[in-house]
Order: sequence, then C-alpha cells, then structure tokens
Amino acid sequence: MNSTKYTLFSNKPVKIDENSLIMAIESSCDETACAIVKGGREVISNVVASQIKTHEQYGGVIPEIAAREHLEAINVVIDEAFKQAGVTGNDISAFAGTVGPGLVGCLLVGLNAAKTLALAYDKPFIGINHLNAHLAANFIDTDLKPPFIALLVSGGHTQIIKVKSYSEMEIIGETIDDAVGEAYDKVARLIGLPYPGGPKLDKLAQEGNPNAFKLPEAKVGEYDFSFSGLKTAALRLVKSFTDKNLPLPLNDICASFQECVSSTLYKKVKHALETTGYKQVVLAGGVAANSEIRKKIFSLQDLGYTVFAPAMKYCTDNASMVASAAFFFENTYENIDVEVFSRVK
Ligand code: KG4
Ligand code: ZN
Repeated sequence: MNSTKYTLFSNKPVKIDENSLIMAIESSCDETACAIVKGGREVISNVVASQIKTHEQYGGVIPEIAAREHLEAINVVIDEAFKQAGVTGNDISAFAGTVGPGLVGCLLVGLNAAKTLALAYDKPFIGINHLNAHLAANFIDTDLKPPFIALLVSGGHTQIIKVKSYSEMEIIGETIDDAVGEAYDKVARLIGLPYPGGPKLDKLAQEGNPNAFKLPEAKVGEYDFSFSGLKTAALRLVKSFTDKNLPLPLNDICASFQECVSSTLYKKVKHALETTGYKQVVLAGGVAANSEIRKKIFSLQDLGYTVFAPAMKYCTDNASMVASAAFFFENTYENIDVEVFSRVK
C-alpha cells in the first residue's frame, strides 16, 4: 500500500491510511459506477447504473450507445455516492478511475470525471487497471494479503496470476482464444438466451445433469486455457437436436457446458497452487459469480487452501473494487495525463 500520494497541482504530500476515503469511478463497459471506500476494505457507498436493459435488445454492448449512456449517468452516480456516504469531495483523500482495458469512449467518460474531481478538490488522482480492480474486490470486507494465486475470469479475460505482493504480479497462464465469460455469452446466445447470457446459463445449469453430455477439454499449456473448441462442440450438440427438430434439453446442455468449464478451471488452479506452493487463492471477475465455479474453487479449502471470492455485487463491474485497488496496489497510474487504453499493453 502506498502511504503517500501526491497531488498534481499543489504537489503537497497526502497521507493515505486506514481511515482515508477513496472515491472511485468505473465505466469500462456497460456499468457506470461510483463508490467510496474506507481504508481499502470498508465500502461506505457503492452505486452502479447498469445498461443491460439498453444493450439487451442488440444482443451485446454497442460501444457508442454505451458511451452516451455513461455521459448521462455519470453525474447521477457521483452525486448518489456522495449522498449515500454523507460526505463531500473535501472529505475524500484521493480520486481513482479505471484507465483500461475497456471500451475507449466509455473509459473516457469515467476517467475524465475522476480526474476532474481530483483537480477540483486538489486531491491525488489514481488511475487503475480494470483487471487489478477485479482482483482487489477480494480485499473488501476481508483480511486478504498477498501472496496469493488469482483466477481472473471475466467477459474479456481468463488468467491465472501470481500476486506476489502489492506491487508485483505475474500472469502465469491465460486463454489462447475466448475468455470464459465470452464463451458463456456465445453459448447462451446459441441456445436463445438474452444478453448477457452467462448468469442465465448458470441458472439453467443448476437444474440439469452435468454428466448428460461429454464436452471436450482443450489440451493447451499447463496453466493456459482454450474455450473455442468447447464452443464449437456445444454448437454441434445443439445442431444434433435442431437438425432433427427435437426440443433442446436446455438444462442438461447448460449443466454439461458448465461442468466442462468449471472442472477445467478447477484443475488448472489446483495445479498452479501445487506447483507454486502458494496457499491462498482468490477468484475474481464477472464470472466469479458463477455458482459451480465458486463451488469448485471453494472446495480447494478441503485440501487446506484458503479461498476468497468477492460477494456477488463486487464480482461484476463496480467502483468499490477500483477504490480498493487504488488503496492497496502500487502498480497504479498516478500521472493525471494518463490516457485510456482498450487492451492490455
Ligand atoms: O467482469 P465483467 O463484469 O466484465 C468484464 O470485465 O469483462 O464480466 C462480465 C461477464 C459476462 O460475460 C457475463 O456473462 C459473465 O461475466 N457472468 C457470468 C455469470 N455472471 C456474470 N458467467 C457465468 N455465470 C454467471 N453467474
Ligand atoms: Zn470487469
């Protein structure tokens, strides 16, 4: 954790400690969010305006529409976060915002709002990588400290990360094609579920037989993933029913898909724990909300590992995790000139 962060204009040192309030803004995709978090772990206010209703009709996020919706929502969520916390900008020790990866037009709205607040109140600005924010969701309401292994599963990323300290991380494995959330959303779409399909597929899976159909697990590097073959196998399975005009056994297809994904993730994480000797594991990212993935990763507790996963509301995009990352992680962007970026550099 950084103990001192500097303002850009006055350049006076600002002490950030356990009692400091950090306000953060997140707008990387289709949620406009603002939160105030104390000492990196205690959420004082957490406001999220979701655009799901808007994008549902298109079956996915339309970047230009998303950016315009962020513009409309941004001041509302900021005001609401202040109101719920009962504080003003003068009570905030630093302002944080998501820099990337994400949709550029969307990121610009939130990041510029965070920068403006920092300048207006003469407080430090802290730019945050969205993926680090997902990891930091695990600091909320816990006593988690590095080192730990993280399984980051979101709409855009699937990674196994060695978090060695607050300043040093190493990605040891990742997907070579689709991210887990992307595979969920694509398969969900294939079987006719509305966007975002991941949570709906999860729900149907809970009523199905996970062993009804055997779907293939990809053979890739020891900590790496590949989900495009599984997606094609799911497509073939669906076609085997639709070609014969047979009704789709939706629950069983969903459960079998979920079983294949969750057992692959479980095996890879277990292997990473065994080979690195790490004793703690955290689950992070939107897909960390998945019932079966949570269950399997938590079962690592039976083998003596300590397992963390964010509360449901901190799994999908929110700003509390951004504030927490700003408090704990040292690999942040503290230059107010930092530009948004769409992909991991
Ligand atoms: O982390 P996130 O909010 O966005 C990115 O940073 O990418 O994750 C969104 C992804 C979507 O693909 C969504 O379908 C998936 O998380 N997701 C789920 C579940 N809840 C959200 N996937 C499977 N099961 C869930 N319960
Ligand atoms: Zn995210």
